[in-house]
Amino acid sequence: MSEEITFLRNVPIFSDLEDKDLLRIVKLGVRQKYKKGNIVVLEQESGAALFVIITGKVKVVRTDEDGREVILSMFGPGEFFGEMSLLDGLARSASVVATVKSELFMIHRRDFLQLLEEYPQVAISLLAELAMRLRKADMQIKSLSLKDAAGRVANVLLMLSDDLGVFRKGKVEIEDLPLQQDIANMAGTSRETVSRMIHHFIRNSEVDLKGNKLTINDYESFRKKYL
Ligand code: CMP
Repeated sequence: MSEEITFLRNVPIFSDLEDKDLLRIVKLGVRQKYKKGNIVVLEQESGAALFVIITGKVKVVRTDEDGREVILSMFGPGEFFGEMSLLDGLARSASVVATVKSELFMIHRRDFLQLLEEYPQVAISLLAELAMRLRKADMQIKSLSLKDAAGRVANVLLMLSDDLGVFRKGKVEIEDLPLQQDIANMAGTSRETVSRMIHHFIRNSEVDLKGNKLTINDYESFRKKYL
């Protein structure tokens, strides 16, 4: 039980709560394991629960009739998803898929809404996170409508840095960079263009790529140049 409390304390929307409250939430939720590729939430279904990531990683995707997919966001440990349909009562706005083996903590709709009523600090943290996600979505809209290919790919790398990156001495490292096709779907371009742009950044010494690990060598100047 104490292991779960520790995990919940590191979840930003719950971090202000006292141990007794965290313990209550632990008892409300259930842990569920997902394999790589498992669908956790399906677009258009009705929403019955909120999920918090204990370990692993997920992607938020929307697909069109031809099965083409656009990735809206990626989440890692401590982050939550599935709140939108709980809050507005409409269908799931997107699908959420585990991209690696993951363990999630699931809270049912009624319990989650009850928590928001009882703990205003949780509701306020949730709103702050939603504001942050809206800012990111605004960035994506700007990037997709105004930027050239280099700008769009750079913006996706910046978004991945914020979601998954490890910041150290002005650099940011993204372990397990998503597939180039996934980056292309996020950037609204082709896989070939993503490959070309990443090599362009490497030639400019803006980025290093070793295996699956991408490093942005000077995060601030990369951000200033392309955002
Ligand atoms: P819900 O609509 O219940 O189910 C899908 C979830 O994906 C949604 O709640 C959010 O948690 C998440 N989601 C949908 N769109 C975005 C987005 N643009 N950015 C980040 N997360 C999103």
